[in-house]
Amino acid sequence: MAAQTVSSFGRCTHAIVRAIPESLCQQALRTEKGKEVDLARARREHELYVGVLKNKLGLSVIELPEDESLPDAPFVEDIAVVCEETALITRPGAPSRRKEIGGVKKALQDLQLNVVEMTDESATLDGGDVLFTGREFFVGLSKRTNQRGAEILADTFKDYAVSTVPVCDYLHLKSFCSMAGPNLIVIGSSEAAQKALKTMQQMSDHRYDKLTVPDDAAANCVYLNIPNKGHVLLHRGPEDFPESVKVFEKLKEHMLIPIGNIELAKVDGCLTCCSLLINKKTDL
Ligand code: GLY
Repeated sequence: MAAQTVSSFGRCTHAIVRAIPESLCQQALRTEKGKEVDLARARREHELYVGVLKNKLGLSVIELPEDESLPDAPFVEDIAVVCEETALITRPGAPSRRKEIGGVKKALQDLQLNVVEMTDESATLDGGDVLFTGREFFVGLSKRTNQRGAEILADTFKDYAVSTVPVCDYLHLKSFCSMAGPNLIVIGSSEAAQKALKTMQQMSDHRYDKLTVPDDAAANCVYLNIPNKGHVLLHRGPEDFPESVKVFEKLKEHMLIPIGNIELAKVDGCLTCCSLLINKKTDL
């Protein structure tokens, strides 16, 4: 385990995001048919998210343009796993999403990261199934991610242990959990979420603290550790999940930033999905 990574967990200098195409409303993949996406509101929510990263937190944000032929492309997290200076380009489980790779790969190469590609045609991996804790990786085995994908991730990030967790009721592992600090896992209350947490606890040598929120979807947060700001947590806002917000408000050492994500959630988009976070130690 790389101790330096634990102490610098959440540090971030750059983010890659991608704008929302109109085609997302009708053509983005979704686990449940439901309400139509309000494009204008989705774009406003996304602009707020990007604005927080850029203006409030001071990250250098690379904004990739929308592409009408790529309805799911704003969910850049699924296309790469970035840890320190290495970026693993995934092989997304949904074939329609593999065309998203080109733009993300170029942006990662422009950031002079060591870019590794998952070329094995038997492997699938979505970044939404990858939970990095700063000490180890947990990989959800879901409809989108398989054992071979997890093995290639383990081969790529050899300094870290990789454990797999079955994911049945949700799209991704991070549909119901995420990190809120170097030692703190946020987890939803459902039976499925609690079962996955138990599996992670059994697999790990480390004892993590946990923060349980009533709503599974609210457990997907973005944690950052920003110089002069300290622990920062982007979490779903009071319009989305008022009861879960009350739990976040107990985190007295965090700068809490509520963000609405009602529209993208209709097509299984969550807060972590919408950015790839990168910590560049050297100047470009
Ligand atoms: N709509 C996000 C996904 O299914 O990958």
